[in-house]
Amino acid sequence: MLDLKRQYAPIHDELLDALSRVLVTQQFILGGEVAAFEKAAAEQLGVSHALGCSSGTDALWLALAAAGIGSGEAVITTPFSFFASASSILRAGATPVLADIDPVNFNLSPATVSAVLDSPRGAAVRAILPVHLYGQTIDWPSFSQIARERGLIIIEDAAQAWGAEWNGVKAGALGDIAAFSFYPTKNLSAAGDAGMVTTNSDALAERVKMLRQHGMRRRYYHDEIGWNARMDGFQGAVLQVKLKYIDGWNHSRRIAAKRYHALFHAAGLVESGPYPLHGVVLPQEVPGSKHVWHQYVIRAPRRDALHDFLATRAIASEIYYPLPLHQQEALKSLGYKEGDFPEAERAAREVLALPIFPELREDEQQTVVAAIAEFFS
Ligand SMILES: Cc1ncc(COP(=O)(O)O)c(C=O)c1O
Repeated sequence: MLDLKRQYAPIHDELLDALSRVLVTQQFILGGEVAAFEKAAAEQLGVSHALGCSSGTDALWLALAAAGIGSGEAVITTPFSFFASASSILRAGATPVLADIDPVNFNLSPATVSAVLDSPRGAAVRAILPVHLYGQTIDWPSFSQIARERGLIIIEDAAQAWGAEWNGVKAGALGDIAAFSFYPTKNLSAAGDAGMVTTNSDALAERVKMLRQHGMRRRYYHDEIGWNARMDGFQGAVLQVKLKYIDGWNHSRRIAAKRYHALFHAAGLVESGPYPLHGVVLPQEVPGSKHVWHQYVIRAPRRDALHDFLATRAIASEIYYPLPLHQQEALKSLGYKEGDFPEAERAAREVLALPIFPELREDEQQTVVAAIAEFFS
């Protein structure tokens, strides 16, 4: 799915220099390298504050806690995401309320969110936590209108979307506060666990800084129950180096996505969708959004058989995500059942992510598409 060694090889020396700076200064937790990364990240995203932390999961929790969301309150999110999008809400002491996705872009649908807000579950909702899934931003004008009209906070889960844009505004600069993950498979990746919270609000940023250090504003004086959610110096150093390359890497991902599109069309495999009948439905870039193709996800009939067939050809593919959040054992207490979110459930049966990363070669993409053509023949 992803060959990180190809990204690493050309920047090996730069990374070693950056890591040695941490060793020389012995600033292993936050420190100068993290501060420099935070400054450069904020400039790149066009936000006032970018705050490094220990993971994307902690970034989500920090964003929720900084916004003061907790017990007795609810947050709307998508059932079709990584578990942390919902578990972070529970960890903040609030209740996740789910709304179905749009079948075309797999993101939370503004129409279903509005319907949930009008339902009894909507009464306690204080925030929306949409996910820019696979590297494509949510339908921002619709969400900002809902938030404005109903006085809700928007917390972006931008874990998969470094560099994605809506009409020129970057993910992480759209909502009130946002969370990024730098997990090694993410398009901007650390050499371990790391994450970031971004916001244009001075007040929220101040709270995030306090909460990521055990609720301390002054050393050993704890104003609130925070947590240890700090970024370590080595990750800040690595991310500072990679930040310089991310625009180019995202550009290469866009080229690779275009190539997949062309190859699938040339192979005569493409159906218009949104659901596949005999061929594949390709992922779409919604007008207004700039997709960074963190994942290239097709829909296919007999998806599991295709997945297995590709594996026999030594071609990796992945299912993000095979079981929607409302059907997860750990989230049973939310009281949802099978059938509650038909679009998410259908997507879980049909989606298949194909290898995509900046250094993926054209001949490798040809091999992937040829194998899929063989399967459908
Ligand atoms: C959509 C989404 N949200 C949250 C996370 C959590 O990030 P992390 O793994 O860095 O804790 C991830 C990544 O795994 C993710 O894909």
